[in-house]
Amino acid sequence: MPFARSDGELRANTVSLTKIGAAAGTPTYVYSWPDMRSRCRRLASAFRQVRHRICYAVKANSNLAVLARFAAMGTGFDIVSGGELERVLLAGGDPARVVFSGVGKTTADIDLAIKCGIDCLNVESAGELGRIEARAALLGRRARIAVRVNPNVDAGAHPHVATGLKGSKFGVPPEEARALYRQAAQAEHLEVAGIGCHIGSQIVDVAPYGRALKRLLALVDSLAEDGVALGHVNIGGGFGVAQGQGRGLDPGALGRLVGAVLAARSAPQPTLLLEPGRFLVANGGALLTRVEYLKPGPSPPRAGFAVVDAGMNDLLRPALYGAKHPVRAVAPRGRRRWWHVVGPVCESADQLPGARPLAIEAGSLLAVGDAGAYGFTMSSNYNGRPRAAEVLVDADRFAIVRRRETTADLWRLERTV
Ligand code: LLP
Repeated sequence: MPFARSDGELRANTVSLTKIGAAAGTPTYVYSWPDMRSRCRRLASAFRQVRHRICYAVKANSNLAVLARFAAMGTGFDIVSGGELERVLLAGGDPARVVFSGVGKTTADIDLAIKCGIDCLNVESAGELGRIEARAALLGRRARIAVRVNPNVDAGAHPHVATGLKGSKFGVPPEEARALYRQAAQAEHLEVAGIGCHIGSQIVDVAPYGRALKRLLALVDSLAEDGVALGHVNIGGGFGVAQGQGRGLDPGALGRLVGAVLAARSAPQPTLLLEPGRFLVANGGALLTRVEYLKPGPSPPRAGFAVVDAGMNDLLRPALYGAKHPVRAVAPRGRRRWWHVVGPVCESADQLPGARPLAIEAGSLLAVGDAGAYGFTMSSNYNGRPRAAEVLVDADRFAIVRRRETTADLWRLERTV
């Protein structure tokens, strides 16, 4: 447990959240690197029988300090923009371990990826394949590609994050993929590296991965008949985590399933690629926020409102997906009463779903849990709010790894005309 109570207060590993709140102010994202590292090791160990590479999905949490630590462990990266690629390089990531996903890669994105020599561009359409080929020819380079196939598998994910179903904007249908590979295999400036898919996010059952992998392998075999050999099979990310009461995906079960599907083949084994985002970083992060006001509810004894200083601009997931993040008082005070935890933003959606019992008073610190993934990266300046600070805890120490924005930062790029 990265955030546990000891000596009457909640700590990030051994570090007092009260101390972090005093040093960094609020709202602040707090990340436990020991937790993120151990999740990464746990996943790697679940796949130890299979030749594999973990490509951390940068979109989940792209703070340079986090990326630098993953890079130092030898982790690869899954990126979706030139901006993410530049972050990875700045953090010391090895471009040869980077894969590039996304339906809308721009010419500038593609050029940067080719020039840096990333491992592979995951192609999502015929138009994109044509553009990559043309840019590689222009740059006098060979671009390594994989086709992202849409395996039409229902992984039971939230509709906003289900990506592997027919009709989704992502990937190409298996029938079309074969033609793209034939085209790529003949192109002078393209090199066929592998094949991939990504079926959704916050998936807790392993069976859909088995179905998707089998569909990809069937394509690998039919491509081998066409004389196209694929070096890797990428099953994407989406591994779910326990949030509050819920259960997460069991990496051991996934490793066994994937290992069994691969072992059943006689053909040469491809390298397995994984693109986990949330699984590595969600549980190791909390959003620290302070109670500004306690306000009575509409008709007592119904729950009151605890108005906190973090809003939907800081953590969008509850408003966008109805996500249920656990909330705990850092140092409980007095009697537990029921509160709706609401933010300061002028939208009714700016609240955590439901009411919860908390022993708090005005000025108390709260920790919103499981916020290490898609928290800061989805934050905005809505309502003229500077974005939160980020703190990384490692061993017994903490450091501010992104300073809080100032109001001057908000209009730095603007001018009056
Ligand atoms: N690979 C690809 C191609 C992806 O599109 C994604 C996430 C991942 C890997 C990593 O997925 P993960 O392991 O983190 O589930 N904002 C949403 C999640 C959106 C996920 C988008 N794609 C949320 O807050 O739940």
